[in-house]
Amino acid sequence: MLIIWFLLFSYMIPSSTSIDSLAVGQSIQDDETLVSASGIIEVGFFSPGNSTRRYLGIWYTNVSPFTVVWVANRNTPLESNSGILRLNEKGILVLLNATNSIIWSSNLSSKAVNNPIAYLLDTGNFVVKNRQETDMDGVLWQSFDYPCDTLMSGMKIGWNLETGLERYVSSWKSVEDPAEGEYAYKMDRRGYPQIVKFKGHGIKMREGSWNGLSLVGNPGPTNQVSLKFVFNEKEVYFEYVLHNRSFFEVVTLTPSGAGQIFFWSTHRSTRQPVFSSEEKDQCESYAFCGTNSICNYNVNSPSCECLRGYVPKYPDQWNVTIWIDGCVPRNKSNCNNRHTDGFLKYTHLKLPDTSSSWFNTTMNLDECQKTCLKNCSCTAYANLDIRDGGSGCLLWFNSLTDMRKFSQWGQDLYLRVPASELDAGHGNITKKTVEIAVGVIIFGLVTCACIYITKNPVFNKSGTLRKLNSKRYKTKHKHEDVDLQTFKLSVLANATENFSTENKLGEGGFGPVYKGILIDGQELAVKKLSKKSGQVLEEFKNEVALIAKLQHRNLVKLVGSCIEGEEKMLIYEYMPNKSLDNFVFDETKKKLLDWPKRFNIISGIARGILYLHQDSRLKIIHRDLKTSNILLDTNLNPKISDFGLARLFLEDQIEANTNKVAGTYGYIPPEYAARGHFSEKSDVFSYGVIVLEIISGKRNKDFSDPEHYNNLLGHAWRLWNQGRTMELLDEVLGEQCTPSEVIRCIQVGLLCVQQRPEDRPNMSSVVLMLNGDKLLPKPMFPGFYTEKDVSFETNSLLKNHKLFSVNELSITVLDAR
Ligand SMILES: *[C@@H]1O[C@H](CO)[C@@H](O)[C@H](O)[C@H]1NC(C)=O
Ligand SMILES: *[C@@H]1O[C@H](CO)[C@@H](O)[C@H](O)[C@H]1NC(C)=O
Ligand SMILES: *[C@@H]1O[C@H](CO)[C@@H](O)[C@H](O)[C@H]1NC(C)=O
Ligand SMILES: *[C@@H]1O[C@H](CO)[C@@H](O)[C@H](O)[C@H]1NC(C)=O
Ligand SMILES: *[C@@H]1O[C@H](CO)[C@@H](O)[C@H](O)[C@H]1NC(C)=O
Ligand SMILES: *[C@@H]1O[C@H](CO)[C@@H](O)[C@H](O)[C@H]1NC(C)=O
Ligand SMILES: *[C@@H]1O[C@H](CO)[C@@H](O)[C@H](O)[C@H]1NC(C)=O
Ligand SMILES: *[C@@H]1O[C@H](CO)[C@@H](O)[C@H](O)[C@H]1NC(C)=O
Ligand SMILES: *[C@@H]1O[C@H](CO)[C@@H](O)[C@H](O)[C@H]1NC(C)=O
Ligand SMILES: *[C@@H]1O[C@H](CO)[C@@H](O)[C@H](O)[C@H]1NC(C)=O
Ligand SMILES: *[C@@H]1O[C@H](CO)[C@@H](O)[C@H](O)[C@H]1NC(C)=O
Ligand SMILES: *[C@@H]1O[C@H](CO)[C@@H](O)[C@H](O)[C@H]1NC(C)=O
Repeated sequence: MLIIWFLLFSYMIPSSTSIDSLAVGQSIQDDETLVSASGIIEVGFFSPGNSTRRYLGIWYTNVSPFTVVWVANRNTPLESNSGILRLNEKGILVLLNATNSIIWSSNLSSKAVNNPIAYLLDTGNFVVKNRQETDMDGVLWQSFDYPCDTLMSGMKIGWNLETGLERYVSSWKSVEDPAEGEYAYKMDRRGYPQIVKFKGHGIKMREGSWNGLSLVGNPGPTNQVSLKFVFNEKEVYFEYVLHNRSFFEVVTLTPSGAGQIFFWSTHRSTRQPVFSSEEKDQCESYAFCGTNSICNYNVNSPSCECLRGYVPKYPDQWNVTIWIDGCVPRNKSNCNNRHTDGFLKYTHLKLPDTSSSWFNTTMNLDECQKTCLKNCSCTAYANLDIRDGGSGCLLWFNSLTDMRKFSQWGQDLYLRVPASELDAGHGNITKKTVEIAVGVIIFGLVTCACIYITKNPVFNKSGTLRKLNSKRYKTKHKHEDVDLQTFKLSVLANATENFSTENKLGEGGFGPVYKGILIDGQELAVKKLSKKSGQVLEEFKNEVALIAKLQHRNLVKLVGSCIEGEEKMLIYEYMPNKSLDNFVFDETKKKLLDWPKRFNIISGIARGILYLHQDSRLKIIHRDLKTSNILLDTNLNPKISDFGLARLFLEDQIEANTNKVAGTYGYIPPEYAARGHFSEKSDVFSYGVIVLEIISGKRNKDFSDPEHYNNLLGHAWRLWNQGRTMELLDEVLGEQCTPSEVIRCIQVGLLCVQQRPEDRPNMSSVVLMLNGDKLLPKPMFPGFYTEKDVSFETNSLLKNHKLFSVNELSITVLDAR
């Protein structure tokens, strides 16, 4: 995952020319520097690490550790402190040694030179330009055209097709030697352009190609950062743009080949690593599974799976997990009968290497399929651009290399398979679809069973289509198609034994939840929504479809819905381990949660909330986060449930005249209780409570320390202030945990439950803090920290589920059960 860099590529020309520019005839010596207009960046001589050699470089002023972002004479160091940088009348920067030999020079421009001057811009770009010209046309040479190991906002990776200039990033040889090292991020222009990490001449890893939003497999643009892809007859390049000027971010390719993102804010001078990717997992390595095979990373190990219609080239090797030789077509391809071929759809895929691909930006998927069928060696196709329901056409020929399965992001790939493969085990399915509207849905269903067998209830173990009394619906919005099943009420009634109390799993804020078992054994959780949603049916359906699009490994997956008459139900995947409160507060089960598991739960919940708040397209505020809304899968990974439901019930909440829950006592923040204000920071408060509960094994709502009448939050804060933080820890955890990690989590918890919403961190900071990548401020006092704080109102509330009303805004407060 490359790149994120800083500042727009702006050509603001500073008014003062005294310190940030070099005119013809002027020079700088070893002990002098040029500083950019606002003083954030400078160019001068330095020695890396313990080396005594001198290099001309650009670095950020006053940032520690010392952060060099560009080196001029990386391959030709100066041996002494006698170097001089000078701008000559041809507009060329020259670096001379003591005997006036040219050690390095900038390239001659093809443009007419007229009174040149060299500037160091605040962006970090060192520019030689014609003094009178103020736009890009006047630029004769710029350091941004020759990146070293660091990418900054405004730099490009790619090609100028007119001049043949290639811009790429290459690592240093070692931390003490800036010479061009082994690793490089480059653009591969063969087929459809993609970004590739090279080691020497070999491909180490593929970042992938542009899908309209990002490089495939990476999250899309955010408010802070976006990636730009430009492809025309003059240029083809990627450019990352950071939109936020209150921090810096650069990406460095280290001598060992890791992409590292560094971050610091404009007013803080300590640089922090944010993200480092050595190969994250083996599936990232180029062609780890050989050809025609998909890599899937589960828990701690990769596994490879042949595409449908392909078999391992060497089965005995394959059996002992030597996957490198990949898979080959089951039957020798025979052009004569390939006109009967069909296509299978794979979803959430890192698309194969595009170096042997062909593309067309205007074709639709239908034309794309036809084009693929016409050419006997075409093996797969996909949309070029996934925005607005998809457009463009990308075709692959012969083998498909370097695919992996993602749990989210990723793209759809349509794999060509012989008719015999489509029939095998796939029931009664049209062989060759032409009607795309129907085709997509059908292939959505057939989507290679080998991937979906275990996950998708549409298939049973043998990969056959299950005879469910269900059908799919599409929302009105063309590109919001969701693979969401609609269930018949009768099917659900049967599955839940007429919604019997024995099958009731719990009572959530929006209605009861039942366990259901379909005729074929598939287990489901059925949530019966309270009857009144205040929405017309169509809106409700659309809303459900939107919620179904929220997919993250820390969110419970919505499988389908049922709307019949007054009844509205949501059907989720079933979590056999039920909810977190069943573990954390249970004297025997809590022993199953050792510290690593608890930490995993704490960070998993944070990532789930971050996704809801920031990364999903809907920007959901949950409003009712609590331990009973956090479910655990078989590996005790946390999954947030009931998200998005507040959207369905927005109207009611304002009416607030029913029993609907809009928050749960013990988890709601003070500003909500007092003024009805709800924001992302309210979810942060609830999260903080959950964190402290997980660590202490005690319920905030039930806890009271006898001496101080503090609730759990007040208790935790008092221990913190007295330096006795570790005493908060659940006794069953004993010795086996890392105190620094525990203390960090408690501190994060306390920061989240601070009284004033504006003091609480947002979820992205929380995630960084948990990873230890961010300095933690000192927490101030928490909201609702004593029993007395709330008891006068809420104790009575708890008993009769009544409302209390402040400023005419009523809130229902229910017991946390
Ligand atoms: C520089 O030298 C010191 C002392 O010999 C050593 O501890 C340090 O690791 C060296 N730094 C590098 C980057 O080699
Ligand atoms: C300057 O560079 C030239 C050519 O590389 C070299 O022959 C000469 O010894 C260098 N002078 C000094 C003082 O390093
Ligand atoms: C100057 O341009 C040539 C090709 O046009 C290139 O090979 C060379 O590396 C460039 N020199 C520098 C210092 O960038
Ligand atoms: C810019 O980044 C800073 C620091 O991360 C953050 O506080 C601020 O909200 C961001 N601004 C915008 C407009 O996103
Ligand atoms: C590979 O393993 C499968 C099942 O584990 C077995 O049926 C098959 O015979 C093995 N193939 C080879 C070539 O060892
Ligand atoms: C492909 O191989 C399978 C199994 O060996 C065979 O049943 C099928 O008829 C073959 N299909 C073609 C088109 O040759
Ligand atoms: C792309 O496809 C369209 C529609 O089929 C066609 O008109 C156009 O010529 C194609 N472009 C290229 C470059 O093949
Ligand atoms: C199929 O496409 C490949 C690659 O573009 C091309 O070389 C080949 O000639 C095409 N074959 C036919 C029959 O069009
Ligand atoms: C396959 O579909 C056709 C047409 O929809 C239908 O007539 C036939 O009975 C189906 N066959 C099976 C085995 O379901
Ligand atoms: C899968 O479903 C089919 C049709 O409903 C059934 O015949 C088959 O036995 C099922 N297989 C398994 C493993 O449940
Ligand atoms: C569910 O349906 C099956 C098969 O139709 C039937 O045997 C069973 O009794 C039904 N269960 C309930 C609770 O209605
Ligand atoms: C479920 O309800 C239906 C209709 O009311 C009834 O016929 C059936 O016997 C009930 N099944 C059970 C298991 O209660």
